Parts: sequence; structure tokens; C-alpha cells
Amino acid sequence: MDIMKREIIFTKQQIDERVRELAACISLDYEGRELIVIGILKGAFMFLADIVRYLRIPCRIDFMWLSSYGTSSSSSGKIAIKKDIEMSIAGKDVLVVEDIVDTGITMSFLMDRLRQRQPRSLKTCVFLDKYERRKVPFKADYVGFPIDDGFVVGYGLDFDEQGRSLPDLCRIIE
Ligand code: IMP
Repeated sequence: MDIMKREIIFTKQQIDERVRELAACISLDYEGRELIVIGILKGAFMFLADIVRYLRIPCRIDFMWLSSYGTSSSSSGKIAIKKDIEMSIAGKDVLVVEDIVDTGITMSFLMDRLRQRQPRSLKTCVFLDKYERRKVPFKADYVGFPIDDGFVVGYGLDFDEQGRSLPDLCRIIE
């Protein structure tokens, strides 16, 4: 895959408008409560940074880093926690922020792990959803954009560590 061959599918401005909408929904749903927002490294760093700035509720932020053994463009299904959160989530309202759901394997693994820690509530907000590619059932509570198959980079998402800093979301042209 060559990240130089790419086309924009969502511009910085379109992303910003959608992120504002998502943040407005989240703020309404959690009105009067405090949220722990968990960002999944590295891909969600930009999405998380944008979304929390539009939230109108108090939140605390932590990060998790997962490792998935696979190729640069697909996960193998074997997931491990490389860096855990530092906060306790027991009895708290928790929102996990992830860049993209593909097969669903990463998020279903993560949800199982976090549920064991007995948060008061546990929801997910994903920037992109490749819903047609699920191998295990997983439904996100908040979705930025559903997308078809194809590999995307930009707005935090990478191919082999390339393309993360692009402000627009781009599809790689095969
Ligand atoms: P899943 O476990 O198959 O749902 O994979 C989720 C992970 O795969 C994401 O956190 C990304 O790291 C990676 N991934 C899947 N599709 C893409 C893509 O199109 N661009 C960049 N990363 C992707």
C-alpha cells in the first residue's frame, strides 16, 4: 500500500462538523454527570482531543494502548493490553473513544475487560465504523461515519505509522 496514492473522503471541516454533533449528543446524554473518557492509542488521539474540547460536561481523560498481532492493515485477533489506564473506573460513567471498528475483535475484547472492572456505565464512541466487516458482534453507541471497505489514513489513523498527522480522512487507492 502506498499512502501517497490517496483521495480525501472526509475533509477537516466535515470531520469537525460531525465531531461537534457527536459531542452535543454525548453532552446531552450525560447531562449532570461526570465522564471518564478513555482514548485508545494511538489512532484515537486526534478524535479524542477534538471531541473532549466540544463536550459541555466535566470529564477526566485516560489512555489505553492495545497491541494486536497482525499485519499493518489488519488485526489477527490476538489482542493484549500494552498500556492500561491509571484511573479506577468502578462505579463511574465511562466512554471509550476509538478510531475505527473493523472486525470488532479489538473493541469486543476491550469491552469484556473493562466490564469486569464494574463501571456504572460503559459506552463507546468510534470515529469510523466498517460495519460490513464484522467478524464478532459489536455495536458502537456513537459513530462518526459508517464507511465501506477500503483502507483509510489521516485524522490519527495510520498505515504502518504513516499518515496519522493528515487533517483530512483519506482512502488509499489500490
Ligand atoms: P478490529 O479489531 O478488526 O475491529 O480492528 C480495529 C483496529 O484495526 C483499529 O483500531 C485500527 O488500528 C485498525 N484498522 C482497521 N481498519 C483500518 C483502516 O482502514 N485504517 C487504519 N487502521 C485500521
